[in-house]
Amino acid sequence: MKVAELDTPVLLLDADVLAGNITYMKEMTEAAGIRYRPHSKTHKSPVIARMQAEAGAVGICCAKLGEAEVMAAAGVDNILITTPVVGESKIGRLLHARNTARIAVVADNADNVAMLGDCARMSGTRLDVLVEVDVGQGRCGVRPGAEAVELARAIHRHPGLEFAGLQGYQGRIQMVEDAAERRAATESGLDLLETTVRAVEDDGMPVPVRTGGGTGTSPFDLGRDTLTEIQPGSYVFMDSRYGGIGWPDRNAPPFGQALHILTSVVSRPAADRAILDAGLKAASCDHGPPRIADLENALFEFGGDEHGIARMEGGGEVPLALGEKLRLVPSHCDTTVNLYEQFMIVQGGNVVDVWPIEARGRVQ
Ligand SMILES: Cc1ncc(COP(=O)(O)O)c(C=O)c1O
Repeated sequence: MKVAELDTPVLLLDADVLAGNITYMKEMTEAAGIRYRPHSKTHKSPVIARMQAEAGAVGICCAKLGEAEVMAAAGVDNILITTPVVGESKIGRLLHARNTARIAVVADNADNVAMLGDCARMSGTRLDVLVEVDVGQGRCGVRPGAEAVELARAIHRHPGLEFAGLQGYQGRIQMVEDAAERRAATESGLDLLETTVRAVEDDGMPVPVRTGGGTGTSPFDLGRDTLTEIQPGSYVFMDSRYGGIGWPDRNAPPFGQALHILTSVVSRPAADRAILDAGLKAASCDHGPPRIADLENALFEFGGDEHGIARMEGGGEVPLALGEKLRLVPSHCDTTVNLYEQFMIVQGGNVVDVWPIEARGRVQ
């Protein structure tokens, strides 16, 4: 089938660009001698997780237990859940999922640690737990230094738990456009994590895993030996926001745009606007509107849940005919992927495969 024959809106994934991005990250991390554990919150697809494992990833990250359940059931191994898993019901599910895959989890609270340990012990197992350290994000995480040592000690001492290491991640700096500014923010977060690693080690506990970092900070994370592994997610697909950031040795990131939304013109009510069939239910808006890829100087505006509006920059006639199809670049790949059931895998204008997005909507 030709891409042009697809019903829209639909999510297109370019097989060659995807493969190129996966290879580039593998080579970057190999050259630095640091492992990588890609974040699957971007793709939510066991097929892509397996491609990343074949390209040398040590495992994957999942943001939510529900995603980890899907990945484990599909045979993906060595999973780190990067958000705390809280409450008996969820801890029960976590321990159950561990029957099929190795799964570790982060924690930032002593009560949560005690419950994780007690539940693991009752089910006759030991659970790997990492302390999440707030290195600047201002979200989850204990404070660097003494607070992290105290929680590491609680994990270390619990017979149901294994202290596996530290996580320090800053999402809000990943897309800082200026590379020098992003480097400085990365360095200060890594300094805090490094101080914490030393404090925990001085307390007699080895810190085997130091994990963090994303696509935007990866060149700087890989320039130091603070982290033992990085957690990039968006590099597999990219989006318009990420495409606009600077890079140390070039003016744009080295990853290609693999993901597009294919949309159709469904109405031409006036010369200066074309109505598209992709609205808020087909493209996420948390990073602004998507970019129109196939028509220069055209701007996308959300026209509601099911509609998009294409106009030309500065006004003028929109050169699009009814039924014409064109591609949009999502402004945020993670939240856009979560809206779809499947990727249409494309290569040279043809649809060559269909991959389900098995963990979409798994927010619990
Ligand atoms: C804990 C954690 N690590 C890594 C990532 C991946 O970041 P990016 O998609 O910017 O590469 C995320 C994304 O939100 C995250 O929450």
